[in-house]
Amino acid sequence: MKYLICNLKENMTLTETLKYLEDYRSIPKTNLKIIMCPSYPYLLLFNKNNSLLGSQDVSIYQSGSHTGEVSAIQLASINCHYSLIGHSERRRTYNENEVVIARKIRNCFDAGLKVIYCIGETLEEKERLKTMSVLEKQLGRVLNNFKREELENIIIAYEPVWAIGTGKKASNIIIYEVINFIKKLLKEYYELDIPVLYGGSINKDNIIELEKIDLLDGYLLGKSSLNIEELKQIINKINDK
Ligand code: PGA
Repeated sequence: MKYLICNLKENMTLTETLKYLEDYRSIPKTNLKIIMCPSYPYLLLFNKNNSLLGSQDVSIYQSGSHTGEVSAIQLASINCHYSLIGHSERRRTYNENEVVIARKIRNCFDAGLKVIYCIGETLEEKERLKTMSVLEKQLGRVLNNFKREELENIIIAYEPVWAIGTGKKASNIIIYEVINFIKKLLKEYYELDIPVLYGGSINKDNIIELEKIDLLDGYLLGKSSLNIEELKQIINKINDK
C-alpha cells in the first residue's frame, strides 16, 4: 500500500475549497492511503472525506498563550491523524531548524499524531555534493530525540528543495540512490523500516516514470494536488498493489 500526500499549501478560498471537495467525490476508490493537508480553517471540512487528514504544520507549544498557533492536541481533537513537519518552505521562510522540528514532533507524538517529516537538500548543497551528508544530519538531529517505538509513527518525505515547485522532478537515478541511502540509514541506526516518499514537481506525466522506482512507498504532491483532474490521473497511474 502506497501513500499519497496532498499538500494544498496556502491555496483556495472557502468557495473554491467547497467546489474542490465536491469534485473530489469523483475520485475513484483506491487502496492508496490518501492524506489531505489543507489550510487550518478547512481541516474540518475535509474530515468527512474518505481520505485521512493532515495538518501542514503544528505549534512548537503544547497549549496556552501563543496567539496564532494551533497545537497538536487541538489537531488530534478534530480527528487530524498526521502533521507535515519540516517542509522546506518552513525551514526557509521561518528558519525552522532541527531543534524546532524535534519539539514539534514531540508534541505530535504526545498528542497521538503521526508525522510526515520532510527532508531535502538545496541546489547549492547538491552542487557541492553534500546531499547525503545534509540528509544524514536532518535525520540524525531529529530522530535521535525519540525512542524506537515512537519513530514507528514517522513517514519520511524526501523532497529536494530544488525540485519543489520548479517543474524539475529529480531524476529516477537520483531518487533511487537517495531513497536507498535513507532506508539503509534508518535500518542500520534505528532498526526502522518506515515509509519513505518522494516529493517535488510530480505530475500526471512523470508519475509513470516514478512508478518504476520500486523502493518508493508513495508520493507527496503540491501543485498537482490542487487540480482534481490531474490528481485523478495521478491516482489512476499509481500501481497500488
Ligand atoms: P510541488 O510541491 O509538487 O508543487 O513541487 C511539493 C511540496 O512542496 O511538497
